[in-house]
Amino acid sequence: MGDWCRFLYSYEWNGTHSMASVTSLTANVNAHLASALSATLPEATDADPLLRRSDRADYQANGILALAKKAKANPRELATQVVGKITAPGLFKDVEVSGPGFLNITVTDKAIIDTLAARAADGDRLGVPLKDQPGISVIDYAQPNVAKEMHVGHLRSAVIGDALRGMLDFTGEKTIGRHHIGDWGTQFGMLIQYLIENPDELSAETDTDGEQAMSNLNRVYKASRAVFDSDEAFKERARKRVVALQSGDKETLDLWQRFVDESKVYFYSVFEKLDMEIRDDEIVGESAYNDGMPETARLLEEMGVAVRSEGALVVFFDEIRGKDDKPVPLIVQKADGGFGYAASDLTAIRNRVVDLHATALLYVVDVRQSLHFKMVFEAARRAGWLTDEVTAHNMAYGTVLGADGKPFKTREGETVKLEDLLDEAVERATAVVREKAEKVGLTEEEIVENGRYVGIGAVKYADLSTSANRDYKFDLDQMVSLNGDTSVYLQYAYARIKSILRKAEGADPLAHPELELAPAERTLGLHLDAFGDTVFEAAAEYAPHKLAAYLYQLASLFTSFYDQCPVIKPRPAQEIAENRLFLCDLTARTLHQGMALLGIRTPERL
Ligand code: ARG
Repeated sequence: MGDWCRFLYSYEWNGTHSMASVTSLTANVNAHLASALSATLPEATDADPLLRRSDRADYQANGILALAKKAKANPRELATQVVGKITAPGLFKDVEVSGPGFLNITVTDKAIIDTLAARAADGDRLGVPLKDQPGISVIDYAQPNVAKEMHVGHLRSAVIGDALRGMLDFTGEKTIGRHHIGDWGTQFGMLIQYLIENPDELSAETDTDGEQAMSNLNRVYKASRAVFDSDEAFKERARKRVVALQSGDKETLDLWQRFVDESKVYFYSVFEKLDMEIRDDEIVGESAYNDGMPETARLLEEMGVAVRSEGALVVFFDEIRGKDDKPVPLIVQKADGGFGYAASDLTAIRNRVVDLHATALLYVVDVRQSLHFKMVFEAARRAGWLTDEVTAHNMAYGTVLGADGKPFKTREGETVKLEDLLDEAVERATAVVREKAEKVGLTEEEIVENGRYVGIGAVKYADLSTSANRDYKFDLDQMVSLNGDTSVYLQYAYARIKSILRKAEGADPLAHPELELAPAERTLGLHLDAFGDTVFEAAAEYAPHKLAAYLYQLASLFTSFYDQCPVIKPRPAQEIAENRLFLCDLTARTLHQGMALLGIRTPERL
């Protein structure tokens, strides 16, 4: 955790802040119900009241039915007894037995505002507690390949990984990023050999920009490929060059480093466009595991996890079979002695568990590699490198499709350049921002900046708001639309609240727990209360779309609140105005923080 989260509100604790974590109303109600349950039925100590938000009351508890069945009791009678045991002065306004034995629960207005006031008093953390026992999560994301153009799949990995990291950090988990870039393998023999024979092809300039860097690499790649395919002698020299690379020959390594550096210039320019900070010390590509791979192979063979088959060292799995029912092995070492993708991943697991002390390994890698990870995890478990204390998960995201539902391509059928795509998103968003700019009084500079935040936010949000395992449609028209579940909608909601707060002269946000609340105020208040629980749930399930859905609903509930409960015009009584401004302020701060966790900025004026 650290400086990578440059635009997030600071939530790193140095011990001098006072931390005031707030138990949510939901958790509070739940705890009181659970103790009333166990006071009624002593054998029900761990019973879950199954509390849900409900339309009829604030909450509904459905857990008594199952308990009654188990205890062979009449559910309605049991429910009535439980109600009699509830002791929480001030929290409950009404608890009513309904249907066959549900509880309908209404909390007091005072409890809502008191809880929210405690949240509001807790700065950027908004009362959200930190995990009691944080683990160490190593997140493998944003892993493009050296000397190759990034594609839309790499975009998803970066966006999803960054959001997961933001959420996990916020819960107090320690996260370590690993950008497992493809920077090793046989194609580098070809590239390096070509460079040795054509030394001026990669310019020595150090101040190239991203696009230029990529076009240099593309040129060298194409040229070397052409020679490789047509010239047998060159092919042979390229093969020898791979051996030199793997055995650490200095001249070869220096040239390899130039490819890596040039590629990084390009990667950084894309990440910069994505408004995402990537740390150099977390770019740990395949090459970093080169020295550990022979040992990985030796250990696997010694333990009998891997066996020799047709000269190669492989791991077999009973349940993983190919078309003709032949087992599909994981290849650790090829028959020619070379190590590949699996060997680097297995070695990386050893490093992440043993040296980094990871308790969770997360791989944000597209679904086409899920079989690879299934085999790698299983092999690592057999070898004892992954234990019961360590979870390993491949967050296998789906393919990016075009608006027509087909895999994303240009009209000419070519793959779309990531940078062009991002530029277009920003261009469209800037047009949207410009339309309203005069009314809001934005300067040209602000229009340009907001256009960037809106455009990049739109791309990120579209990805994060659908469950990651689904394919998703890259549809710019839909992404920058002001209506519907888009980041622009949320960004406008935020800016609108900020403008309300600016316009409210003579009244400041101030909680008034003594006031009776209107229904729309209660609904908004109860939703605000759920922020912390939602972040924890979304982080634990690696499900950023749950946070996105929460934020979208927050913006919608705010709209109904603002329609029904005037804040400025007509101006209500002073305390009511202050209390409503308090709700406005907390909504804005929650939107800001929630979006920041997803990696999306919320401009103050839009
Ligand atoms: N560089 C790979 C690709 O572009 C993704 C790497 C994923 N991470 C890993 N540990 N294998 O397909």
